[in-house]
Amino acid sequence: MNATSYPRQVRIIDVGPRDGLQNEKQPVPAAVKVELVQRLQEAGLKEIEVTSFVSPKWVPQMGDNAEVMAGIQRRADVRYSVLTPNMKGYEAAVLTRPDEIVVFGAASEAFSQKNINCSIAESIERFAPVVEAALAAGIAVRGAMSCTVGCPYEGEIAPERVAYLAGLMKDIGVQRVDVADTIGVGTPLSVRRAIEATLRHYDIDQISGHFHDTYGQALSNTLAAISMGVWNFQSSVAGLGGCPYAKGATGNVATEDVVYMLQGMGIDTGIDLDKLIDAGQFISEFLGRPSGSRVARAMLAKRAA
Ligand code: HMG
Ligand code: MG
Repeated sequence: MNATSYPRQVRIIDVGPRDGLQNEKQPVPAAVKVELVQRLQEAGLKEIEVTSFVSPKWVPQMGDNAEVMAGIQRRADVRYSVLTPNMKGYEAAVLTRPDEIVVFGAASEAFSQKNINCSIAESIERFAPVVEAALAAGIAVRGAMSCTVGCPYEGEIAPERVAYLAGLMKDIGVQRVDVADTIGVGTPLSVRRAIEATLRHYDIDQISGHFHDTYGQALSNTLAAISMGVWNFQSSVAGLGGCPYAKGATGNVATEDVVYMLQGMGIDTGIDLDKLIDAGQFISEFLGRPSGSRVARAMLAKRAA
């Protein structure tokens, strides 16, 4: 591995307000979510996944989606994205003027059923009109691909299944995709294989890494992806998160940890780490638990000393 092969810049999408908070059992008021978004953009995040337009019976925490979208103070240079699993979700989402919508499928049949109550093929049928409508309205379209290395119900997932899903996403017009390790079981080589499978249908510039940190591998996996040329990543401030339909899976890799690593490598993110740590501290204090970010804990201890 050669340092000059790393990208000079990395773009981070903070998914904390959505992936991070969707799994929280205690209600988080819309005003707290709005303030979290505000703090993230003040820290320099240029992409924020704000909320999801899913069934409030399935994910009650995201039931305030429209209120949160109405409350945020938008900046022209920040892209605000929301999850939309079907036309019902899209129709509600579009009224709130997202910059990007995210359809979300899975490389595993069992996870598709548990998460969105339909098969992979059916999910693509539901996504197709969403993608078409979004593109016609000038809204960008991303596709999340869950379980690209492992599934809580099916175990290991073969790269061919990832390539298959990526091909389906491409066929319906999804512009870029997230290679997600939903349950954080991947290691650098398995993640690499999932990205290689995705590269059969998408360019490196259209691929983001979305790594949960359940087994403590997410930073290593991020580095493996960076060394392939991936320069878009999703992470969650304070390491919040998990999917309600992937029991035991913990949060995304903490944004603070990714930023610290990249800064150390001389890779620009445009993010102010101190302000990011404050944003993480804000939400961790609200939730009443220490930050899941090792970097934040270390830097807060240093500040206190
Ligand atoms: P369904 O029950 O199959 O939907 O749910 P349906 O079309 O049969 O409708 C049933 C009821 O839901 C109806 O209401 C619909 O109106 C309503 P009722 O007549 O019973 O009162 N409904 C909706 N309500 C609000 N918004 C909607 C919507 N659609 C239907 N969009 C559905 C299908 C997808 C809606 C459901 O399964 C669902 O909401 N699932 C939640 C999935 C979810 O949010 N998972 C977490 C996010 S994904 C994730 O975290 C992974 C990711 O981070 C990447 C990774 O790490 O892997 C992205
Ligand atoms: Mg996720």
